[in-house]
Amino acid sequence: MHTDHPSQDPPRNGIDAGFSVDGMTTASVDVDTARRDYAALVDRGLSLDITRGKPSPEQLDLANGLLTLPGDGSFKAEDGTDVRNYGGLKGLPELRRIFAGALQVPVGQLLAAGNSSLELMHDAVVQALLSKLPGAERRWADEPTLKFLAPVPGYDRHFALTERFGIELVPVAMTAEGPDMDAVETLVAEDPAVKGIWCVPKYSNPTGVTFSDDVVKRLATMRTAAPDFRIFWDNAYAVHHLTDDEPALADVLALATEAGNADRVFVFGSTSKITYAGAGVGFFGASEANLAWWTGNTGKRTIGPDKVNQLRHALFLKDEDGVRAHMRKHAEIIGPKFEAVDRILTEELKDLASWTKPTGGYFISLTVPKGTAKEVVRLAKEAGVALTPAGATHPHGADPDDAVIRIAPTFPTLDVVEEAVRALAVCVRLAAAERA
Ligand SMILES: Cc1ncc(COP(=O)(O)O)c(C=O)c1O
Repeated sequence: MHTDHPSQDPPRNGIDAGFSVDGMTTASVDVDTARRDYAALVDRGLSLDITRGKPSPEQLDLANGLLTLPGDGSFKAEDGTDVRNYGGLKGLPELRRIFAGALQVPVGQLLAAGNSSLELMHDAVVQALLSKLPGAERRWADEPTLKFLAPVPGYDRHFALTERFGIELVPVAMTAEGPDMDAVETLVAEDPAVKGIWCVPKYSNPTGVTFSDDVVKRLATMRTAAPDFRIFWDNAYAVHHLTDDEPALADVLALATEAGNADRVFVFGSTSKITYAGAGVGFFGASEANLAWWTGNTGKRTIGPDKVNQLRHALFLKDEDGVRAHMRKHAEIIGPKFEAVDRILTEELKDLASWTKPTGGYFISLTVPKGTAKEVVRLAKEAGVALTPAGATHPHGADPDDAVIRIAPTFPTLDVVEEAVRALAVCVRLAAAERA
């Protein structure tokens, strides 16, 4: 657990959030007051949006030095490769070296490819459907049923990606230490149709949880019925600290390799929220066997990645310390927004809701009284405040408790964040009061 917030005691990050209307003191939610406050809110005619987990323009400006790199006449990589030309499927070694430490993958096993990581995750699923993975008995497309474990609350795009291919998502609760490993171990041991698990191991989307050493070890060593089980280790927020108190994350690839499960882990990452979202570089790390499988397949769809952008990134970020210094500047911009959300929620909703206080990443997960999240989002919309749809944090958009709302404070200005969260609190109070 990497928070000092009392509302983060386990298991409140998950579907078992521990808050219910039954447990609420109705004294704290006077219906007439709540209705009056809401009417006043609507009268203000706001138009605010806190749905988007995107960097703000100010954050993007931090990387504008990229735009003049590599510069006229400077098109050679450190090994003399002309980056303007075809080839180099694994990506530039100098860029892979900068990110190998943060992503915990040996440089030789880390590829730099594409403009972001989601496409690499999509590719991994598609390639596994079409070409037998190392250790597999058959292609995933030839399996009668395919299942992935989905820790909830989780990242909606992960869920949408697997849903697209008819892969059944089996929810498992997120705890304050990561996925509920008792449930995970049972499911993967008993059912060979379970082929994978989605993991955002550091500053998880949306809870901000960093997986504990015990969780990582159990994931790396557990017995799986499927010989071709894969952990989709999406380390999207590996370097996205908000404080100097950086939680350590155990090295899943090393642990799996030690346990004889080297092929179990697919590591993903990107510079999307370091430099430019959509114009960055994606990373894929895995065992030698997995890499041979990967390059054998991706070599049919591309002759090589955008090495000009990779060189630009290597020159701009320079080394691991360069990344660290750059990320501090991000934290200076977005840290106050996270603090504002926490402060206002504490002032307004202390007795009514719980929320996470992440020390990194991009999101805060708010748990409102059961059965009210959709209504809160609807009320907010009517009042001109756009929130991520309730349920987006769960497979098929269905939160069985209708209690989790994801707050994304990075993109709007501080003023907008403050105003939107105060408005959100008014909506939570009304929804709770109406339901009591
Ligand atoms: C957990 C997680 N993974 C991946 C992404 C998207 O990353 P990329 O831009 O590298 O595709 C996001 C964006 O919000 C994310 O939260």
